[in-house]
Amino acid sequence: MVDNVREIKDGLFPFNGDELHQLSFLLNYAILAPSHYNAQPWRSRLSNNGLDIILDKQRVSRFVDPHSREAVISCGAAIGMIEVAAHYFGFAVNINYENTANSDLLAHINLAGHYDPSADENAWFHAIKIRQTNRK
Ligand SMILES: Cc1cc2nc3c(=O)[nH]c(=O)nc-3n(C[C@H](O)[C@H](O)[C@H](O)COP(=O)(O)O)c2cc1C
Repeated sequence: MVDNVREIKDGLFPFNGDELHQLSFLLNYAILAPSHYNAQPWRSRLSNNGLDIILDKQRVSRFVDPHSREAVISCGAAIGMIEVAAHYFGFAVNINYENTANSDLLAHINLAGHYDPSADENAWFHAIKIRQTNRK
């Protein structure tokens, strides 16, 4: 991770690293996702099997989000950032969504071979670091 979360050096992506290091780098982009009340209600778990995205129930308000709906949508946004960033760096991703009724584990992510991003996808990637909610 970097000191200023928006100042990620894209050029430091570990092309020569293993999947664990590549997924770890992609988390730099995940944490820039929008989230309900800026709660950032996600946790991640990295292992040699890949990356788990987990709902952080401690960051979910039982008053404003009693069913964790907005929090799960926010985690979906974080997962989307990982997918967009992986595509930009030329990697396809496998995202296996879990049954959220039974567990806080939302998705398991692996890199999955080569991917050719479109011009639109590259533009989405560059938007990740400058995107901010505009209430106007
Ligand atoms: C599921 C979800 C619901 C949101 N609901 C609102 C909302 O009702 N009103 C609002 O002004 N912003 C809403 N936001 C935007 C968040 O407040 C915003 O993403 C957060 O403060 C972080 O700021 P950023 O998007 O600039 O990174 C929502 C975001 C998400 C992901």
